[in-house]
Amino acid sequence: MSITYKDADGIQGMRVACKLASEVLDHLTTHIVPGITTREIDRLASEFMKVQGTKSATLGYQPPGYPAYPASLCTSVNHVVCHGIPNDKPLKKGDIVNVDVTVIKDGWFGDTSRMFLVGEVSIVAKRLCALTFEAMWHGIVHVKPGVRLGDIGFAIQKFAEGNGFSVVREFCGHGIGQTFHEEPQVLHYGKPGTLEELKPGMTFTIEPMINAGRREIKEFGNDGWTIVTKDHSLSAQWEHTVLVTGSGYEVLTLSAGSPPPPPFVNA
Ligand code: MF3
Ligand code: CO
Ligand code: CO
Repeated sequence: MSITYKDADGIQGMRVACKLASEVLDHLTTHIVPGITTREIDRLASEFMKVQGTKSATLGYQPPGYPAYPASLCTSVNHVVCHGIPNDKPLKKGDIVNVDVTVIKDGWFGDTSRMFLVGEVSIVAKRLCALTFEAMWHGIVHVKPGVRLGDIGFAIQKFAEGNGFSVVREFCGHGIGQTFHEEPQVLHYGKPGTLEELKPGMTFTIEPMINAGRREIKEFGNDGWTIVTKDHSLSAQWEHTVLVTGSGYEVLTLSAGSPPPPPFVNA
């Protein structure tokens, strides 16, 4: 499969699906407190998707070489980097959790994730979540026709490493549209002026995974999905789906509850 460029109808379809994905996260926000289990978060999301008339893209998702993913979203707690499977362990004060939601509406996919702080968290955990959010936005603000994917990866890497954190290399953002994961791959590290040139109508995710310690990861247990940091350090991730417009970018996964962009955006 190659890169798909969305026409006006496709863009409208993406806007709708992406906003709905973000609204799932809005709905979950007040529930993510000490004592809730990630399985309950998954159930709340799945009920809400029924009300929305969306379907989870992750439930039953089975790329080559993977078992079918068993839940309506991913919940990655503390040193879990990504693809954490909801379970019955209650969240406790001080945890940080990424909730990653992908919904399908009228055939279009919207993909977004946020970090949630469970009660009071440590200073380093707070800083990691805040800087990872900023790292994502350092990538987003570069999106416009003529820019290359390497410029985006470089901006994210420079910011994250400049703040003493590391960037996970094995997972990346991705084109998205009428399929979940399509070309191009959107690396969160790289060299300016390299890789694919952005063109209007492209839609892709930017979803950096940033570790407080070393960048290396490993598979956890035998569920076939869960990825953790090798050194057990904390990991954070934020994700937006963006559209390349004629003159810049449009963030598609925004809704009433989205945290506002950091001050350097539009400054
Ligand atoms: N939503 C994830 C992404 O951003 C993919 C999750 S696949 C799953 O690409 F099967 F683990 F849910
Ligand atoms: Co996602
Ligand atoms: Co994604």
